[in-house]
Amino acid sequence: MLSEARSKIGVVRKGVIYLDNAGAGPLPEDTINAVKNFVEEWFLNGEPWIKGLENVINSKKLFAQLIGSDVEEIAATPGLTYGLNIVLTSLRIKRDSNIVVTDINFPTSVYTAHAMKRSGLISEVRIARLYNKHEDIEDHIEKLIDDKTSIVLIDHVSWITGYKIDLRRISEKAREKGSYLIVDGFHAAGVLPVNIRDLNVDIYLTGTYKWLMSLHGGGFIYVRKDLLKELEIRYSGWFGVRDSPINRLKIFGEEMFKEPFNLENIDLPDDASKLEWGTHPLIVFTGVKASLKYLIDYKAPESYVYHTKRLVEMIRTGLEEMRCEIVTPENSESSIIVFKTKDPYKVARELEKNNIIVSARPGVIRISPHFYNTEEEIETTLKILKRIDPCE
Ligand SMILES: Cc1ncc(COP(=O)(O)O)c(C=O)c1O
Repeated sequence: MLSEARSKIGVVRKGVIYLDNAGAGPLPEDTINAVKNFVEEWFLNGEPWIKGLENVINSKKLFAQLIGSDVEEIAATPGLTYGLNIVLTSLRIKRDSNIVVTDINFPTSVYTAHAMKRSGLISEVRIARLYNKHEDIEDHIEKLIDDKTSIVLIDHVSWITGYKIDLRRISEKAREKGSYLIVDGFHAAGVLPVNIRDLNVDIYLTGTYKWLMSLHGGGFIYVRKDLLKELEIRYSGWFGVRDSPINRLKIFGEEMFKEPFNLENIDLPDDASKLEWGTHPLIVFTGVKASLKYLIDYKAPESYVYHTKRLVEMIRTGLEEMRCEIVTPENSESSIIVFKTKDPYKVARELEKNNIIVSARPGVIRISPHFYNTEEEIETTLKILKRIDPCE
């Protein structure tokens, strides 16, 4: 199973040890073929509009399957940051409220919170300082949540420390204080089993170009069903109404434009498509559908939980032997492990010379194996790392 999944990844076939899935995932062959066929059809016969819309519908179904939600709770977006800003426009937030973020969030959500403060939509951005913390991390977030908190906006797994936050704990506190819990799940969905009901979050977002092993320009928003009813849609477009092209396709099939559009009485859909504004990047979602199918066909991530955990443990043990300062807290359960080094780009370049790809980030090297990586690849990486001696 694993060797078949590996044989479909070009970069793996070339003999590269690809351990930068937190940067961008490699594309499986099925994805490439789906995109190639789509653009070729466009080239030869004109825009494959219906097929493109069907691919969006099916991508949403597959993503819902991956995280255990209903498809009605999923909106397709052109990326995580776009999804976040779209959903924020529809929440009722008090102007004297605060938003709680952390310094291990990817900057994009922190910048969005600052923008909201600048424009007077909230009065304070509270940043939980977690970077060098190895214990009681959730406590530091909880301490910042009070009656004036309108949104807790955190990353499920941190891009820069690899720490996986206990969302259930944070969700209890957020609920108690009447705050929304919005989670950037980019580094979890696709590599860690995400059971959205267990996590008890209000909104969960991801993008497609990392652990979902697909293209840039795609993403998903999950919105808890009860919250969908409360959303106040302030901005919209022809994909966000009940009479949208996708809903017309379901009713009229290919003759979707036979009825005029009603410009006076706009009815909104009940599902999360009310957060979709305009034509989806249909090429991207053609690839996304194929990538999600690839992951689900190979039973990733569920069947590989122990496997990826083992790979991360091997890396941790190897780094400890090299006396490296490991940034990732020991009790973290993610597929990202980060260690400090003086010159990260130098270390990354040395590894690259040996066909090993990791990411250099400020003051650190980040190693991020996915389900398709093997123990042999980790052994080779550690052997080369020992030779480089990055923590001397
Ligand atoms: C955790 C996290 N969130 C968001 C982003 C950016 O998302 P997008 O490029 O889809 O806006 C990144 C990019 O690296 C990320 O690591």
